[in-house]
Formats: sequence, C-alpha cells, structure tokens
Amino acid sequence: TLGLPARARFGATITRPDDLPPLLDQAGALGLPLRILGGGSNVVLRPRFDGIIALMAIAGREILDRSHGRTLVRLGAGENWHEAVEWTLQNGLPGLENLAGIPGTVGAAPIQNIGAYGCELVDRFHALVALDSQDGTQRTFTRVDCDFSYRQSVFKRMPGRFIVQSVTLSLPDVWQPNLGYPGLNSLPGDIDPVTVMRTVVAVRNSKLPDWRQTGNAGSFFHNPIVDSVVADRLATDYPELPRYPSADGRTKLSAAWLIERCGFKGQRFGTAGVSDRHALVVVNHGGATEADISALAGRIVAAVEARFGVRLVQEPELL
Ligand code: EPU
Repeated sequence: TLGLPARARFGATITRPDDLPPLLDQAGALGLPLRILGGGSNVVLRPRFDGIIALMAIAGREILDRSHGRTLVRLGAGENWHEAVEWTLQNGLPGLENLAGIPGTVGAAPIQNIGAYGCELVDRFHALVALDSQDGTQRTFTRVDCDFSYRQSVFKRMPGRFIVQSVTLSLPDVWQPNLGYPGLNSLPGDIDPVTVMRTVVAVRNSKLPDWRQTGNAGSFFHNPIVDSVVADRLATDYPELPRYPSADGRTKLSAAWLIERCGFKGQRFGTAGVSDRHALVVVNHGGATEADISALAGRIVAAVEARFGVRLVQEPELL
C-alpha cells in the first residue's frame, strides 16, 4: 500500500492450508526464505526480495459455536479484514465495529494486534491456527500463547516463523457500544452497531489518507511507551502533549503530536513526505523507493529523539 517498486525472486498464492507444506518444502529445497503477505499494508518493501513471497488467500467465514454468552466465528487468514467485520454485523454479531476500515487481512490482524478507537484484536480474540515454518507442524494458539500487547505478539517477535491459517474470534452476546474515543463520544448511548461501524469508517477517512490515492502504511511509528520519569519530565515541559495510561502501568505518548511539533506534518522531501492530515502517516507522493521512505523515517526518529529524548519505533516491517 506504500506503492514501492519491489520484486521477489518467486511468488506464490496460498488458497488452501494444504498449499503450505509443499511450499515450505520447495523453499527448503531452493534454500530461499519464504515470507507471507496479506494486504501488504504494514510492510516497507525493499526493491528486491531474494526469496519467495506468498500471498495469503485462504478464504472462509464460519459461525462455529453459540454458547457461554458468546459466539465464536472462524475466519480464513486471507479474508479481507473490513469485509469480515461487515459480515459479522450482517449476521447480527456486533463486537468488531470499532475495528472497521483497517486495511489488510484477517491473518495479519493478530501479527501486530491491530487496534483502533478503543479496541484491540486481543479484546475479541479466541484462538488461531498457524503452521510452524521451522518444523512444518500445525499449532493452535490461545490468547495467552499469542502474548499480545500494544501492537505486539509472539508472531511479530519471530518474523516469518508462524504462518497464520485461520483466526477464531469471540463476540459477546450482550453488546455495549464502546464510544469513549474522540470522534465517537458524541454518539448517543442507544446507538446500533452498524451506525458505530459507519462512524468509525467516516472518522478514519477524515483523518487518514487513502492508500489508493496516496501510498501509505497507516501509522508509521508506535505511540511510544515511557516510564514515569520521562512521562513526568515531558508533562512538565509540554502539558499539552497527549498522554494515555498504558496497560503495563507506564505512559503512552502521542507519536503524531511529537512528530507534528518537530514540524514534519505536511512536509515533502522529494517523493516521500508526511501526510498533511495526520503526522503519523508517512506517504509516497509518487516514485518513492524504500530508500526514500527509510531516509525520511530516520530523519523523523532523529528529530524527535533530539528534541524530546524519546526514540520512536517503526511500526511497518522492513522486508
Ligand atoms: N495528533 C497530532 N497531530 C496529528 C494527529 C494527531 O498532534 O497530526 C494528536 C492529537 O492530539 C490526537 C492524538 O494525537 O488527539 C491521537 O491521534 P489519533 O486519535 O489519530 O490516534 P493515534 O494515536 O495517532 C492510533 C493508532 C491508529 C488508530 C488510531 C485511532 C497507533 C500507532 N496508531 O493513532 O492506528 O487508527 O489510534 O484509534 O497506535 C495504524 O496502526 O496504522 C493506525 C492507523
């Protein structure tokens, strides 16, 4: 979605779980790395990948079980995430509406524990099935096994090792709208889930550039999580800096605010730039390469570190 020119030595498409073992064998026989792409919306592609890139296209949407006050739905890893969210709502199963409009596939969602508008995948996650590319065994991962945290999981910590085939989500029978996030908090409390979904999509569209028009990979950096010493120092120097409590007791800062304060918002550096709508989104204005994007990312990291003493971590993986 960043629109970078990139070529792999070999390509493949995975439409069934049975496609995976022969693909792993072939990669092993050729001595080449194998990497899976879903929607390609959270990667920065180098011009050349000397290996096999396989597109995940395993389909499937299935209601597995309705009991214990929740419904389990199993989704194929190749399903488009937003279409899967719409499908759950069409089936009267709310719970994913705050995660509507996120680009990419179902299989990619657990890799970085996607999150938006006060909800993270972990909140609705039940289990997933993945192939271990090291020994070819199929494994089921529970929520605990995935070790999810903010934009993190066991899969992100071991890039390429596990190939997600399907994801099972748990949607509660008793639904409560989650309207705490700015942009949703003016909605009435008796709202229906489809209207919440439409509002989330409208808020996203107003803030984030559409990659079909201007290449981008969504948020380019994590919101940094800092300890109390750093948080207190920054709160004194910059009381207007948005801060949120992090699940681990530390403080999460707004990366967009830090980047905007360094003057990058809307700035153009040749073919690459920072969106004028959202300072956290690095964009390709046309003709940028991985080197242009990475050079700009390096500039942003250096400027934020020099001014605020906080080191930003890149969100999309460099492949
Ligand atoms: N802000 C600025 N300048 C900007 C944009 C935002 O100063 O140009 C400040 C505002 O004060 C705002 C605050 O930053 O209140 C937070 O902005 P926003 O609500 O847009 O959220 P974010 O923290 O920048 C995160 C996710 C997004 C997700 C939104 C909404 C990360 C890295 N990003 O962004 O996820 O859509 O919250 O929940 O956590 C993505 O991961 O690709 C992504 C788009």
